[in-house]
Amino acid sequence: MLRIAVQSKGRLYEDTMALLAEADIKVRKSERSLLVRANDFPIEILYLRDDDIPQTVASGVADLGIVGENEFLEREEQADIVRRLGFSKCRLSLAIHKNEQYNGPQWFNGKTIATSYPNILRQYLKKEGVKANIHVITGSVEIAPGIGLANAIFDIVSSGSTLITNNLKEVEVVVESEALLIATPNLSEDKHAVLNELLFRLQAVKEADHKKYVMMNVPVDKVDDILSVLPGIKSPTVMPLADKQWCSVHTVLERKRFWEIIGQLKENGAQGILVLPIEKMVL
Ligand code: PRP
Ligand code: ZN
Repeated sequence: MLRIAVQSKGRLYEDTMALLAEADIKVRKSERSLLVRANDFPIEILYLRDDDIPQTVASGVADLGIVGENEFLEREEQADIVRRLGFSKCRLSLAIHKNEQYNGPQWFNGKTIATSYPNILRQYLKKEGVKANIHVITGSVEIAPGIGLANAIFDIVSSGSTLITNNLKEVEVVVESEALLIATPNLSEDKHAVLNELLFRLQAVKEADHKKYVMMNVPVDKVDDILSVLPGIKSPTVMPLADKQWCSVHTVLERKRFWEIIGQLKENGAQGILVLPIEKMVL
């Protein structure tokens, strides 16, 4: 049984549960229990605050965790990054009042910066040779300049709308963050086997992510022209139809590529083009 710590609510929660569901790992979240077993897969989910996930994994209380890189870097806990998951992207940035003239990191000399990420900020300021005061607050960091608590903030920026609402502008991006799958050091062999199974499933979901299964009817004398614009995983499938003048062509395409070649397919006489989602793909 592998125990995986995930965020109990907030921006990572939805994406994490969606990813597990796509990998056919189904868990019901119960209001009463922090620990829930998955159906049909030897995994249990431990729901936590994101701030607590790195330590829970480092200490071995959970074997794995899904956590934002921002939180992982800030906590400085000893856990291994197993995979970058590519979702919940955001940045950790410095922001100042929108009317301030900004002339580079030296602007922060002697200033007070409000943040929930003091460790990452301290390292950055040291690297830039800037001496500033760090004021740690745990929530609503963005209001600090407005109420005179700080001259600047260092916080998560995603869409940027929080900054705009608070008359702030982003002046330095310090960390680009995404969701990480982390593991406790020295997983047992049994647990490693379950982890590999999980990674295999996640990979299959990822391979399928941007791809579509495309089917179309093509006049027999146009098949070669159509095949020349169609890449397949190995090669497209061509099947005869009851009408001897026509055949059916099936292939797998990048979604983006489909829109690029749809015109050429139609010019070459393709009809009845169907585009279907692909759930999983094992290469
Ligand atoms: C973060 C951050 C900002 C907001 C930025 O808070 O503190 O308030 O997101 O996002 P935006 O650029 O899309 O407006 P979050 O909702 O993650 O909550 P937390 O600070 O309590 O972790
Ligand atoms: Zn948080």
